[in-house]
Formats: sequence, structure tokens, C-alpha cells
Amino acid sequence: MNEIKPDADMAKKVMPYSGYYKNQMPGHDPYLTETGPGTPTGDYMRRFWHPVCMAEELTEVPRFLMIMSEELVAFRDGSGAVGLLHAHCAHRGASLEYGMIKEKGIMCSYHGFTFDVDGSCIEVPMPTGEEEEGCRLAKTICQGAYKTVERHGLIFAYMGPPEEEPPFPNWEGNFTCHEDDKLVPFSNVQTCNWLQVQDNAADQFHHTPLHTTALVPGHEQGTTFGEAGAAAFVIRPDLQFFPVHGGRSMAWTSSRRVDDDYIFIRINHQILPNLSFHSYLFEDGKKSKHFSRIHMHRWTVPIDDTNCKMIGWRAIGPNIDPRDVGNEDLVGFEKIDFLEGQCGIRRPERAKYEDGKLPPIPKHHRERDCYNDAQHAPGDYEATASQRPIAVHALENPMKFDGGVYLSRKQLRDATTGSNPAATGAGWKEWLEGVDGKPNTYCSGNVLKVPIGSTPEEEVERRRVVAQRCIQAITDADELPAGEREAFIQDKMAEVERDYA
Ligand code: FES
Ligand SMILES: [Fe+2]
Repeated sequence: MNEIKPDADMAKKVMPYSGYYKNQMPGHDPYLTETGPGTPTGDYMRRFWHPVCMAEELTEVPRFLMIMSEELVAFRDGSGAVGLLHAHCAHRGASLEYGMIKEKGIMCSYHGFTFDVDGSCIEVPMPTGEEEEGCRLAKTICQGAYKTVERHGLIFAYMGPPEEEPPFPNWEGNFTCHEDDKLVPFSNVQTCNWLQVQDNAADQFHHTPLHTTALVPGHEQGTTFGEAGAAAFVIRPDLQFFPVHGGRSMAWTSSRRVDDDYIFIRINHQILPNLSFHSYLFEDGKKSKHFSRIHMHRWTVPIDDTNCKMIGWRAIGPNIDPRDVGNEDLVGFEKIDFLEGQCGIRRPERAKYEDGKLPPIPKHHRERDCYNDAQHAPGDYEATASQRPIAVHALENPMKFDGGVYLSRKQLRDATTGSNPAATGAGWKEWLEGVDGKPNTYCSGNVLKVPIGSTPEEEVERRRVVAQRCIQAITDADELPAGEREAFIQDKMAEVERDYA
């Protein structure tokens, strides 16, 4: 049978009842979206440290993990060391998820080979009298292994070539920005490709339609920004996007006129390849706030090409959350405390089963038992997972407010192709070494007392200029010592207020 080819010109045409001309699917972009071994973006991602699981997932039995389409097993041995090994035993392939965790390393259950956390084989069992031969044989094999680091309840791994390992990036020193911040870990599976979840961090226009109201009035389901008292988010933002740190990342501002006196300037920071820092999520914009810091740290880690996990920390504490809206009890494995529709499991009380076991990973969004709830009040999970298992960029019709999505994809492409040497794995390693492994982030929540412009044009201009001055202040402070940086930025923001007083 002859294949009927789509008519590309007709597919693009704006006309009524055009479904027939748009019913054939171009493919996804494999270059940016696929991350398995040997893929360009997968190889790039392996030059970074990624969180692979929560520490609480390491129990008395090994934890099977799939990361970037690699089958892995994580465990904490009796000495406290954390291992992340290839799942299939180097002997004859049985999975170490059925292995026995030992005082040192893990023993494969099939024939009893034992591997240390670095993958070295420390025991090949042999009949009595042939132990020496076992020792000799052990030195001839090793299990694939990745180095791990534990921070604030998350297990990070470096899955690239050992000789090119970059410093572990302790953003802002130790990820905390205020002494009273408590970093609470979470891990939430998303049933779609990693890039559309990462895109969603740069897509801040969606806040107003998706998060400020239930779609069916009167349907009581979940939390919206309105219900959380985050009045400032109800306003459609004016977005600007700034490539920063040599094109290794993008800071973006969303400016909202809260009332005649105050502008809310939210600055988030999206960092190659899969990290994002989010500032305060519950802002009401009622009083001045200069350089409030990170409310959520989030990595989008590919599981395989059609599943990923959002994994990171929520910062909880009076400094970051003066209105005390956050709820630590609702942050964890397959749960998060803000809005509804962030995870496959919709109601947080379901997120721990009665026997204390972790809940199963959700499957496709339409198979969930909360599908009806999700249709009435969808969240990010529904929006991103329903963009297809791998979103098809060729079908998109981007608007001005999608600029951040397109800029961050461009940064990724420039990094993976090497056209921006600063953002390659080697460029990152050099930069991290130069900042002593402690880079700064632009992430900040800011409310400035700046009166409304006298005309719509003046107001639009004012919102943009104020946001640009905030970004400039943070850029100018980037090389100041940690103790001086915050005061410098706060002074500059106060100066903006004085200039408009
Ligand atoms: S398959 Fe693991 S010890 Fe034989
Ligand atoms: Fe969202």
C-alpha cells in the first residue's frame, strides 16, 4: 500500500475544520529529548551530578532505579556507604535488586559474588581450599558503579567518565540561604519525557490559567494559588528572560503589578541541564521584600525517555515563608505541599500506605484513580504529561511568553553541540572549580514599592525596567564575598524604590 504523505503546507494553514490536514504526526526531537547511553544529550547530562533517589528509599533491601535509561541498584551498606551499581551482576546478569546488603558492599543472590560500593569485586565464593583462586578471580572483574554524594536527604550520583568529574556544586554554599531554612526532600515521578517537565519551569505564564482556579466552578478539589492566599500570582505576568553565567543558565523575571503601590518581581533561575531554583510560591505582594531566596530546588531527572522525576527540596522556615503556608508533612516521596496536580498521586494522604511502605510509582495519567478530580482541577502533572509521552516541538505555535522555553532549549542545544564552550561539561567543570564549587543563584522573590505608571505604556515600561534593574543588581553582586552580596543587592533594590518614590 502506498503511504499517504502529509501535506506540510496544508498542515500549517489557518482554516476552519482543518483536522484532516493536521492528523499526521511529525516525530519528536530525539537530539534534545533522549538521554540513554550514547545519545548526545544523555552524554552531556552525565557530566553533572544528579539526585537519583531520596535517602529514605534506601532500606534493608536494595532499591531498583532507572536513571537515563540505565538499570541501577542503590543501597546503603552496613558501614553506611551508599552504592549505585549497574543492576545486572557482572557475573551472569542476575539483578542485584535481589542481592543481600552486607556490612561492606552487596552480595548477588545468584552465585554469591560480592561488590563494594565502587564496583570492585571483593568476593568470589569458591569451594573450601580454593579461596585463593577466588581472590585472584575477584581482581579480574568489576561491577559498573557510580560515585554518590548524600545531601539533605537526597542521594546524588555522577554518571560520567570518572576522569572528568566536576566538583559537586554546592549552590549558595550548602543550598540553604537562611540559617533557619530546613531543606525537606521530595521525589515525584512524571509520566512523560524530562524536557517538557523542565520546560514547564521556564513556562511561567501558565500560572494564571492553570493554578488560580478550578476549571469547574464550585468543584472543591485541591489547592489553587487563590486558595493559598498567593494573591500576587493571580495576575498575568510580564516575562523577561536573561541568559546568565555565560549561557550556562537563564534567569527570568515575572513582573506583576499587585496594586497601585507594589510590583512583585519573581526571579527564578533555570540551570543547564535540568536544575531550577524557584522563589517563594505563596507571595501576596502586600509589602516590600528584597531578595528573599530559594523556596524550592528541583532537578528533572530522566528515568527513561518517557518518564522522569522531579526531585529536590522544599525550603521550609519562617524566613522564606513568613506567612507559614508550607507544610513539611506533605513533602516527600510522591507528594508535595503546594497546589494540586503536582504528582501522580493526587491526595497527599494517599502518599504513605498504612504499612509504612512507599507507594507505587503511578502509571499513565489517564489510568490514575483520580482522573475525574484531575479533569475538574488539573495541575502541572496533567498539563505536562498530556503533551504526549514526548512533546513534539514541530507542532508548537509559540507565543511571546514562551520565550523562556525556547531560550532554555537553545542553551541546551548550544551546550550539547559545543557551540557554547562555556556550557559544555568541560566548561562547567572549569567554572565550578573557579567558584570553589559554590555557585550563586539569581533565584529571589522581590516586592518593590513602585507606584503604578500614569499611562499603560509607562506602566509596561516601568515593570520591565524595574525587573531589569533587579537582575543587574544580582549580576553586579556575583563576585562579592557571600557576606556582602545580599546587602549589596538589597541596597540596590531599595535604591529602585527611592528612584520611583
Ligand atoms: S549472576 Fe551474580 S553471582 Fe552469578
Ligand atoms: Fe505550574
